[in-house]
Amino acid sequence: MSLQIKSFEEYQSEYKRSVEQPEEFWASIADHFFWKRKWNKVLSWNFEEPNVKWFEGAKLNITENCLDRHIYANGDKPAIIWEPNDPNEAHRILSYKQLLQKVEQFANVLKNNNIKKGDRVCIYLPMVPELVIAVLACARIGAIHSVVFGGFSARSIADRIVDAECKLIVTSDGSYRGNKTIGLKNIVDDALMQCDTVEKVIVLTRTRTPVSMIKGRDVWWEDEIKKVETQGNPACPAEEMDAEDNLFILYTSGSTGKPKGVVHTCGGYMVYTGYTFMNTFQYKPNDVFFCTADIGWITGHSYIVYGPLSQGATSLMFEGIPTFPDASRYWDIVDKFNVNIIYTSPTALRSLMAFGDEFVDKNDLSSLRVLGSVGEPINEEAWNWFNEKVGKKNCPVVDTYWQTENGGHLITSLAGVTPEKASYAMFPMPGIQPALMDENGKEIEGNDVTGNLCIKFPWPGMLRTTWGDHDRCRQTYFSTYKDMYFTGDGCFRSPEGYYKITGRVDDVLNVSGHRIGTAEVENAINMHADVVESAIVGYPHPVKGQGIYAYVIANHHTDAEATRKDIMETVSRIIGPIAKPDIIQFVDDLPKTRSGKIMRRILRKIAEDDIANVGDTSTLQDPAVVEGIIKGAAALK
Ligand code: WTA
Repeated sequence: MSLQIKSFEEYQSEYKRSVEQPEEFWASIADHFFWKRKWNKVLSWNFEEPNVKWFEGAKLNITENCLDRHIYANGDKPAIIWEPNDPNEAHRILSYKQLLQKVEQFANVLKNNNIKKGDRVCIYLPMVPELVIAVLACARIGAIHSVVFGGFSARSIADRIVDAECKLIVTSDGSYRGNKTIGLKNIVDDALMQCDTVEKVIVLTRTRTPVSMIKGRDVWWEDEIKKVETQGNPACPAEEMDAEDNLFILYTSGSTGKPKGVVHTCGGYMVYTGYTFMNTFQYKPNDVFFCTADIGWITGHSYIVYGPLSQGATSLMFEGIPTFPDASRYWDIVDKFNVNIIYTSPTALRSLMAFGDEFVDKNDLSSLRVLGSVGEPINEEAWNWFNEKVGKKNCPVVDTYWQTENGGHLITSLAGVTPEKASYAMFPMPGIQPALMDENGKEIEGNDVTGNLCIKFPWPGMLRTTWGDHDRCRQTYFSTYKDMYFTGDGCFRSPEGYYKITGRVDDVLNVSGHRIGTAEVENAINMHADVVESAIVGYPHPVKGQGIYAYVIANHHTDAEATRKDIMETVSRIIGPIAKPDIIQFVDDLPKTRSGKIMRRILRKIAEDDIANVGDTSTLQDPAVVEGIIKGAAALK
């Protein structure tokens, strides 16, 4: 039997089977992968601790599934197609054979630098093939990778390195983004002043930006490769991993405190990403699959690297940005490589829409067969534009809902197999049992209802813990509703039973598809010397989905504009440019309850320009505060 569901009827019967006999179901899916030893038990679980184990006792290495097993029949097939930032630079294609060889080489480099199974390796690289190579080289020897997105600051890198106690960091001299060059190694140098666990830094040459190489600590990627080449045996046997051994850590924001390290394990993550990749996108053997995400986010982990490669697919990665050299770049790439499936974000679509249709129309997009969206709710306008202008009404659009913690898609259409509807994520994947919950912790049955989205039963790709703090995992995801995984999202189930995600119900923002915690941004703003207190809320933004609105009490701001810029700079330094507020409003006071809690609901309404619905302010310490803020907001416009 194939891994792929081919009709709506089959989806329904597979879904039923996955609920009635989950262990048999997932065992039959897992049989499509290569295991050195099969499992003793498919699943054991409880959501109280939580403790979830899939395929216990099984042995595998995910890189044998992503590389070695394709070599015999498909060794010369392109595994990675890489398109550089600058369209005039040559693209690169790595066949499965070449990728395996490079992964083995770099795995040996890691070993030479004292990295062993279980050690943590931080990766801070631009979107170049060496990023995929470094990720897979870690997995090859059982080291746990922690990839940090290039848009994070030195301080954010340091926090992540310290939390995971990374022994080594892989970076490059710099990265290209549009017409900018960013000195990555310099940022890493700043980060390393704050952490003492890192013994080695491996630096890839990309931009030839001058870097300071510290004796005994910093080595060049290229020199290390030469060393292993002269050592003789270039192969690196795959470490035998337990299905439940850790594969990677990926940090993500929540509503409180510092980002947490979401932990995924080898067996379940492999099965879930491979299965969802094949089904959601209906990948066919010679398709070129283009996921526009950065590997620094979960989408890149699951749908540039592990999902496609475990299925022997051709995965296209792009170093640059959608608007460089102009707004037709994605479509140039589709045309150039005959891309069959494109997987992108609503923010990218909205920003490209604004440039006008001529940027799409000038390319031949007839190779496209499937369109995918991810990361944030897609509004109807963007959905329609994608469908009409890009897909010429001829390509199914899949709106994939999921999270870092889920490993792979939770709710989505299967392209051309199950129905679709603009702005609806539609149906749960087989194996996913959604529940909508009310404020009293009761499940809301039936259709045409809205509630908080939970999942009742484990699936192979779910997180196992948060690094170094299991109780935080329990509290964040498993304590709000008994025996349920809580997503933090609101959801509507239509009269037909279609699922539509309505957005976060906690203090997490989704800005351009990037997850940002309000508490994190507030903490960063509060570090600025002039700031007394601040409160962050999201507001609807035409391109980013949500924008960041900051209400700030500052000590003195004779030059408000300068203080604003300083605050922006502070946030950039502490978190990274992606968390910079869009609007800063200076206020004299914040609306607080008598017990001192900030009433965010009121601030949200003001930010949304929905003054009529600010609601009851009589429980505030000082209701007059609200008037002042409303006036100030009006003056900003
Ligand atoms: C949001 C990204 C609506 C949601 C894969 C979730 C979405 C958060 C969708 C996770 C979608 C993601 N429709 N909302 N198709 N996909 N989200 O961890 O709020 O970066 O909780 O994972 O993005 O973001 P994360």
